[in-house]
Order: sequence, then C-alpha cells, then structure tokens
Amino acid sequence: MTTTIAIASGKGGVGKTTISVNLSLCLALQNKETLLLDADLGMANSHILLGINPKLSLDDFVTGKSSIDDIITTTKDKLKFISGGSAINNLLNLSDLERHKIIQSFNNIYKAPEFMFIDVGAGAEASSMAFMSSSDKVIIVLTGEPTSFIDAYSLIKAAFLDYKITNFGIVINMAISQMQAKLNFNKFQSIAQKFLDVNLKYLGHLCASQRIRNSIVSRTPLMSKNNKNIDTKCFDDISKELSTLDTNKTGTIRFFDN
Ligand SMILES: Nc1ncnc2c1ncn2[C@@H]1O[C@H](COP(=O)(O)OP(=O)(O)OP(=O)(O)O)[C@@H](O)[C@H]1O
Ligand SMILES: [Mg+2]
Repeated sequence: MTTTIAIASGKGGVGKTTISVNLSLCLALQNKETLLLDADLGMANSHILLGINPKLSLDDFVTGKSSIDDIITTTKDKLKFISGGSAINNLLNLSDLERHKIIQSFNNIYKAPEFMFIDVGAGAEASSMAFMSSSDKVIIVLTGEPTSFIDAYSLIKAAFLDYKITNFGIVINMAISQMQAKLNFNKFQSIAQKFLDVNLKYLGHLCASQRIRNSIVSRTPLMSKNNKNIDTKCFDDISKELSTLDTNKTGTIRFFDN
C-alpha cells in the first residue's frame, strides 16, 4: 500500500522543493521505500537539490518515448526519483487527458513504494490541483509572511471548494524558533477555520538556516546518513507526524489504487 503526499504552497519560493527532497530522503534513510515525483512541471529543480542529473524525465513518458519505470532513478540513499523535466512547452500545457495518463501510470510501476512525495508547482494552477486531489495527503508550506498567509488561504479555499480536499498538514518554514512557528500556525488556523470547514494539522517547522541554504548551493542534500543536527531533527520530527495527518477522499482518480 502506498501513501501519496503532495507538497504545495500558495506563494512560490517558500521551500516546497527543499522540504520535498529532504522529507523523502528522511524516509528513505529510515529504510522506507520512497519515491519523489518532481511535479513542478517544466520548472523542475528537485534534481539540483539532490545533486543528480537524471537522463530521463516525465517529458519522456508524456511524449511516449519511455515507460514510467524507465524514468525512475535511484539515488545513493535508495530514494527513487522522477524528474519533472524542463520541456516547458510539453509539460506546462498538459491536457486533462494527459494528466490522467500520468496519474494512472503509477499503478503500472513494477514495485509500488511505501511513500510517494509530490513536489507540486506553487498556486492553484490546474496541474497542481490535479496532483493534490489525486494524493492521499496534502501538506501546505507556509512562512510567517502575510503574503504567504494570504496565498495559502486562497489555495486552501480553492482546494476545498473546487476539489473537496478537507485535511491539510501545515509546515512552517523559515521560522525564527519553534515557538514562533507554532504561533504562526495558530494565527493561520484561526483565520482559515473561521471561514472554511477544513481541518488544519500542524506537522512541524524548519528554522531559517544557513546550513539549509548551504546544502542547496553545494547541491548536497541536508539529509544524509551521517548528518545529524537541529535541522535534520526538524525533518525527523515532521516525518513522525505524517501518520497523524488524515487522508482526503476526493472522489477523483488516485495515483495508486491501493
Ligand atoms: N529553512 C530554510 N532556511 C534557509 N533557506 C531556505 C529554507 N528553506 C528554503 N530556503 C531557500 O529558499 C529558496 C526557495 O526554496 P525552494 O526552492 O525549496 O522553494 P519552492 O517553494 O520549491 O520554490 P518554487 O515555488 O519556486 O518551486 C531556496 O533558495 C532555499 O535556499
Ligand atoms: Mg520548488
């Protein structure tokens, strides 16, 4: 059985890719079969954070050149990975049918993983919403800035009203401290739940960290076997909370017919 988790945000640049890559690695390092799908179509950059250069990407699958299994790369930490590709014209203008074909193809994967993370593009664009509503769980990444709050609220509103997504995990990124992250979550929750009948669950936080910034610049993922520090602990803590996040039943097609 596979648990699929979409990582989304209203505003761009809040840390979706950083969190998708390191949370996926965190589970892979716990010996859980994990697949990361970079679904920021045409603008994919997870491979840069992973420090790898896959030859094939989702574009090769969409254009019929490769099977879904062919485009999966395995990293040295045993994380399975599908790159979103940089063929902007092919991937940004997908039809509903092509999106369905991508989502349904995961049923044909030779060995279904235990977890699949999906790094989706920012905002409520059609592909992002389709990938979110086809996932079991949805995580929204927020920073403490008012712009991030407003955009996250708009995304949650669209996901709830148009796609019947009701359960959202929240990760606060670039926080000053754990206490400040929790305060930001409480503030956001009280605004969102006043107007929308949704459940928001605090999953954890990451501090604004030079170590995280350096890991991106050096293309060396923060999470690795021999790296333990306060930032990796935050990812460990978030990974432990994942099972407490409720699954959505949206009625649309799923990545895996478990
Ligand atoms: N906790 C953090 N501490 C310091 N820098 C961070 C942190 N999280 C993310 N960043 C920085 O913020 C920038 C944006 O992060 P990232 O690419 O993960 O965001 P994103 O939400 O995926 O962006 P996009 O919407 O463009 O896909 C990166 O350059 C990264 O260095
Ligand atoms: Mg990104």
